[in-house]
Amino acid sequence: MPKKYIVKKQGKYFPSREMKEIAWVKDEKIYSDAGKNPIKFWEELAKKGINWEGNWKKTYEEKLPYFYWFKGGKLNFCANCLDRWIKKKGSKTALIWVPEPTSEKTIKITYKQLHDRVCRFANVLKKQGVKKGDIVAIYLPMIPEALISMLACTRIGAIHSVVFSAFSADALKTRIEDGKAKILVTSDGYYRKGKKEDLVGKANEGAEGTSVKKIIVVPRFGKKISGNKLLDFNEEIEKAEEKCDCELMNSEDTLFILYTSGTTGKPKGIVHDIGGYAVQAYWTCKWNFNLREGDVMWCTADVGWITGHTYAFYGPLLNGSTSLIYEGAPNFPNAGRWWEIIEKNKVSVFYTAPTAIRMFMKFEDKYLKKYSLDSLKILGTVGEPIDEDAWNWYLEKIGNGRCPIIDTWWQTETGGTLINVFPGIGPFVPTIAGKSFPGTKHIIVNNDGKEVKEGKAGSLVQVSPFAPGMLHGVYKNPKKYIETYWKRFGKYYDTSDGAYTKNGLIRVTGRTDDIMKVAGHRLSTAELENAIASNGKVRECAVVSIPDKIKGQVPVVFVVLKKGKGDASLEKELVSHVDKKIGPIARPSKVYFVEDLPKTRSGKIMRRILKNLLANKEPKGLMTLVNPEIVDKIKKIIDEKIK
Ligand code: WT7
Repeated sequence: MPKKYIVKKQGKYFPSREMKEIAWVKDEKIYSDAGKNPIKFWEELAKKGINWEGNWKKTYEEKLPYFYWFKGGKLNFCANCLDRWIKKKGSKTALIWVPEPTSEKTIKITYKQLHDRVCRFANVLKKQGVKKGDIVAIYLPMIPEALISMLACTRIGAIHSVVFSAFSADALKTRIEDGKAKILVTSDGYYRKGKKEDLVGKANEGAEGTSVKKIIVVPRFGKKISGNKLLDFNEEIEKAEEKCDCELMNSEDTLFILYTSGTTGKPKGIVHDIGGYAVQAYWTCKWNFNLREGDVMWCTADVGWITGHTYAFYGPLLNGSTSLIYEGAPNFPNAGRWWEIIEKNKVSVFYTAPTAIRMFMKFEDKYLKKYSLDSLKILGTVGEPIDEDAWNWYLEKIGNGRCPIIDTWWQTETGGTLINVFPGIGPFVPTIAGKSFPGTKHIIVNNDGKEVKEGKAGSLVQVSPFAPGMLHGVYKNPKKYIETYWKRFGKYYDTSDGAYTKNGLIRVTGRTDDIMKVAGHRLSTAELENAIASNGKVRECAVVSIPDKIKGQVPVVFVVLKKGKGDASLEKELVSHVDKKIGPIARPSKVYFVEDLPKTRSGKIMRRILKNLLANKEPKGLMTLVNPEIVDKIKKIIDEKIK
């Protein structure tokens, strides 16, 4: 019989005795102890969790809007992920890779093998002139080479900038142009839903006319790579030397940049430092998921997002643990694929997103019943608020009523999780993320920055000292950094999320800005509007999100054309235009062609009115419009389309 890790008491779930026995953290005192001196708390964690090769002078320094952890402390990130494990557990599996085609075998890579590949690839990068502080763009799917390339960068002090492989060539170009990478690492393609998806074509197009001098291509489809500017990943690695020293870095040097959507049309390069990020990634991964020797952790997020960085790759490796990654679609060749992977590989920690859970809820149980999920110990969720139905389904069907659900709140900007409960403490309550990680503090404030009472909704902010894994600015854009995170509340970090507390636990309700979460992916209204408006036929447009059963939210667009009326074929054209500008993840679910948009006297588009119309609510604030008559006309167009 598999162990039961939770018990129900008065309608709530708590850790069972079996869970308490294996839990790293089980005493609630940790919160108050850490709260008394958070800096000292993190200092101790930093010393215990990470190998340093030189001490820092001051543990924490704060000159808002900037702050530094372990400044001057010396370390190498890659050495902490690999070298320190080689002696004791070189033959332990570091990475399990499951390719999508069922005809291909699962690959297991040991710490020793990974170390060898990383050293060689680091030498390949060096040979191409990559130096400490240079940016390397990585545009790869979920294959081991993504991890190898990233670690190789960290080994030589280069900064990686990973771009999600489903982003378009244009989206890749914008990100390359901002970071000025000389080297781009990609693959010829990847498998998705049984089909070969091209990547190198998009990579070539995206890199054209940019700073990129060479494109290193992983031959995922097994064919030799050749072409102008192109290098074959495997050939280069075979030629490279196997020894590569680790570059000694400062804690506050940049580890990576990751672009994310802000409220403007241009994505922001979120900058993360080495030391602070390493400490937070190590401890949050260890404690939230209670990592123990022998665990297999599967975080289903793509490496193109922060969750993939921190919990598919770095968190497990920093802990000397085993991580599983899967290349393809969750329901390929059928809806049992994920559960089969869990059974076959004895996955014990499973971390996914509410949107995936909602998708699986609609499939028949027969796919689930075929497989044993007894190896599971801990379930995690992240990315958006999880509703009660999805939470209960996750607990009953995947966790078999045995495993705690750890609902983790965090952001690209925070580097690692920040609000959740621990498996050994609980309580596990649907829709509630929980408490600030020990040594960090979040409060809920009103518009004046005053803390609100229990149960009252407000803005979620973080209080000093700020968590070690927090962003260290927006790449080349200090103004944006200040505007986005510090302008509104000054001394608090503004998360842009709304929240309230219930019995002292935090419930995050979602974004309060113009950012939507589409199937867990972060997209901004402005980014999508820019993409659509760049079509020559469009005069202007407005994007709003509407709720969706599976994706959480989906974008809907209102378009004013330069001339003529829209029709189905133009709608199609605009959707493929979005594919080209951003990628299929941003596809609008509907396009409404309208003659004008509701605007105020100063020309501001009132998206809220459009949103109300879509929700069939009485639109408010018509008096402020210059063109109130347009509202009825738009309503008619919406109603007709529904019919
Ligand atoms: C936004 C950040 C970093 C994880 C992946 C997403 C929302 C994230 C939760 C949660 C409610 C959540 C917030 C946040 N979010 N986790 N457990 N409960 N909302 O990173 O793409 O930077 O998005 O995701 O709105 O601000 P991201």
